[in-house]
Amino acid sequence: MATLRIPEENRMIEEFDAVRAYLGGIGIDHERWEPTHAVPADASATEVLAAYSAEIDRLKASGGYVTADVIDVSPATPGLEAMLNKFNSEHWHDEDEVRFIIEGRGLFHIRPQRGPVVSITVEAGDLLRVPRGTWHWFDLCQEKRIRAIRLFQDTSGWTPHCTESGTDRRYDPVCFGPSYIPNRLW
Ligand SMILES: [Fe+2]
Repeated sequence: MATLRIPEENRMIEEFDAVRAYLGGIGIDHERWEPTHAVPADASATEVLAAYSAEIDRLKASGGYVTADVIDVSPATPGLEAMLNKFNSEHWHDEDEVRFIIEGRGLFHIRPQRGPVVSITVEAGDLLRVPRGTWHWFDLCQEKRIRAIRLFQDTSGWTPHCTESGTDRRYDPVCFGPSYIPNRLW
């Protein structure tokens, strides 16, 4: 379940409806998806896409997405750091960034046009839609593992445009959720 944090306000939101409502207020769609049938951990990309085909088709129809694929990232992924470094500073895209998490975790930071920066730790079952033009950045969590469905309107719009504002450097890429231990306990 996604965990939302607003560092400036030292505030954390964990309840699904509250997270969804807050994100909706800054233009980010958040949903929880269930597969139509159990998906084994070693399922192929084809099997994964089939298990979520109803949701994918619904989103494709509503958002103009034409293709869906499955991305797999682990500590063994060649060139992992170079890949992550493309996305961990503030940027935007010419198309929506749509991710449904199948396994692992990730950390989105969003800088809305109004209001404070928010961080969102996403995990299995979470769908996030970051509209085109939204300033954001992305990090993996400590375990460096994520498997996710991506939906595209036009893959040529996927190139990140960096803002080079430096805003991202003011926020720790710390994931929240079940394995997070607050600093105050130390
Ligand atoms: Fe992005």
